[in-house]
Parts: sequence; C-alpha cells; structure tokens
Amino acid sequence: MTGVRGAARLHLVTGAAGFVANCLIGRLLAAGDAVVGFDNLSRGTLANIATFANAPAFAFQKLDVSDRAALADAFAAALAGHPDYSATVWHLAANSDIQAGVENPDIDLRDTFMTTFSTLDAMRRNGLRVLAFASTSAVYGPLTAKLREDIGPLFPISNYGAMKLASEAAISAAVEAHLERAWIFRFPNVVGSAATHGALYDFAGKLRRTPDKLEVLGDGNQQKAYLLVEELVDAMLFICAHAADRLNCFNIGPLDAGVTVRFLAEEMVRHAAPSAQIRYTGGDRGWVGDVPRFSYSVKKLRRLGWSPKTGSAGAVRAAVPVVWQESK
Ligand SMILES: NC(=O)c1ccc[n+]([C@@H]2O[C@H](COP(=O)([O-])OP(=O)(O)OC[C@H]3O[C@@H](n4cnc5c(N)ncnc54)[C@H](O)[C@@H]3O)[C@@H](O)[C@H]2O)c1
Repeated sequence: MTGVRGAARLHLVTGAAGFVANCLIGRLLAAGDAVVGFDNLSRGTLANIATFANAPAFAFQKLDVSDRAALADAFAAALAGHPDYSATVWHLAANSDIQAGVENPDIDLRDTFMTTFSTLDAMRRNGLRVLAFASTSAVYGPLTAKLREDIGPLFPISNYGAMKLASEAAISAAVEAHLERAWIFRFPNVVGSAATHGALYDFAGKLRRTPDKLEVLGDGNQQKAYLLVEELVDAMLFICAHAADRLNCFNIGPLDAGVTVRFLAEEMVRHAAPSAQIRYTGGDRGWVGDVPRFSYSVKKLRRLGWSPKTGSAGAVRAAVPVVWQESK
C-alpha cells in the first residue's frame, strides 16, 4: 500500500528506513502531514519505521530507488492516493558506508548517484517540482580552507563524496530544466537515536562483542563536527521554510570546529565499559577517503536565522548512552 489519503501536505521520502529519515518522518507526521517512504532496506531497518507503521498518514514501500521505472511508478501510485503535486521529495537514500564504497565503487554509483538520477527522473515524469537533498561535507574533500558553500573547485577523496557532488550537479541541472525549487543540505557527522552507522555505532558494537578492548581506526586525532539528529532535522525544516532561491545550498553543523575521534572513543568507553583498553591503529586517516580535519563554515545558515543549541562535544555526550542502549 503506497497511498495515503487526506488533505494534509504530502512528503515522499527516499531512504525512509534509515537513521535521519526516522527523525524527519516523525517530525513531518507530528506536524499533521502525510508521508510515503521508500527504502530497499539494504542499510535501514523495518524497526526504524515501526513507530509510524500504523499511522494512517504514513505508508511505506520496499523499493530500489535506483530502479527508474519502479520509482516513477511508485511516485505515481503515491500521488494517485494523495494528489498533492506541490509535495516535497526528500531524497535521503544513499550508501552511508563510505569504506564499502571505496572497496567497491559500484555501491556509490548505484546507491548514492543513481538513486539521485532516478529520483529526479521520477519527479520529472510525475510533475513533482520540489526537492530536498541530503548531501555531505565529504564533497569538500581534504580542503583546509574555511569550507563555505561557494568554495571551489571541489575534489572529494571518496567515491561517496564524488557521487554526492555529482548528485548536486544533477540537481542543479534539473532546477534549470524542471524543478521549481531544490534545497541541498551538506550534513556534518550526525549522531543520535536509530543510527545505522558511524563511529559511535561502531564503537558500541565492538564493545558489546569484546568489552575489554576497543580498536579505533587511525591515530584518534581526526577532528570532526558532530550534530544531534534532532537539531539536523530542525535545521532542514528551517531552511525549507526560509530559503526561497530556486537552488539553495547550505552547510549544516555546529558552531565549533568539532571533537576528535579519541574524544568519542573515550566517552563511549567511560559510559559503556570503563575498564576497556583503547588501541589506535595509527595514521592520520581511519580509512581511505577519511578526511582527517576540516573547517566547516555555518555562517550562511546563521545569517538565515538558525543556530544549533548543542556543540559537537554536547552532541556526542548526549548520543553515547542512546547509541549504547540501542546497540547489539
Ligand atoms: N548520518 C550522517 O552522519 C550523514 C552525514 C552526511 C550525509 N548523510 C546523508 O544523509 C542521508 C541519510 O543518511 P543516514 O545517516 O540516515 O543513513 P542510512 O544508511 O541510515 O539511511 C539511508 C537509507 O537509504 C537506503 N538505501 C540505500 N540505497 C538504496 C537504494 N538503492 N534504494 C532504496 N533505498 C536505499 C538504506 O537502506 C538506508 O535506509 C544519506 O543520503 C547520507 O548520505 C548522512
């Protein structure tokens, strides 16, 4: 069943069974809107959508979003049930395992780029004209300058970052051709409930298996910006409500320069397994495509009127007990 009926505004969400979508869909439904979600469950889980499964304003279809014909049909079916052609399409489906995409570039071609291409195609075929897209700080690659949205040229160092940048380019072309408006959000590292990946998630899983030791990739000095998922979704909704150019691109992140991976490891160990020994594998990068440090500018978003309440350290501290409790 992919149709939702009623007078509420409609949202179509790809990657609906994933981490960020879990929080986003909760917010959209709480606002009284209707949501149809799509996911192939490659990395997301049915548990992540279980809370909405019985809501009459929510419907879910298991689907490979990179399958252009199937997605166009699915959008058409959703619109048949709820003919809101001003619906926002939230394109969140992607490969979220950067290392897997380094080992097998096909994964990012299919899940990170082709899902975008297919989403744009399905929108064009169905007369849908408003897109919100989850991009990433990984598009910036290893640049050491202050990372503002208008800096360039950009040379990502992971297939994931490359396919996200290619997605941004495809969206820019679609805005010229058939979209009325698009928002591109460049996310930092996001933490919180319903996580499906990330350093905290990995640390919690490792400590469940071996509570006396924690192996950390790299030397622990990689420094990254962290944001709570609730604040990320708050920023996305704020940008959609306030940024009215045809193509809008925003970094979303905390105001600080981030915290180290060592800080994350120590916080998780302190909470979950205080006697565990932390061992660092060494090197300034945890893996090929890992960006050891970057300086993210969120000035544009602050000028628009949004700032987070929690910094990187606070976000990590708040997420640690949640991620640990949800880990297996
Ligand atoms: N969480 C972060 O720290 C972070 C940082 C930067 C960008 N992002 C981006 O935000 C979006 C959401 O990320 P997330 O953290 O929720 O990741 P996630 O892996 O939890 O969610 C992505 C979802 O997309 C689905 N998916 C992947 N390929 C698909 C396909 N071909 N067809 C259908 N579904 C498919 C997965 O099953 C998963 O449920 C992604 O686009 C991600 O690249 C996330």
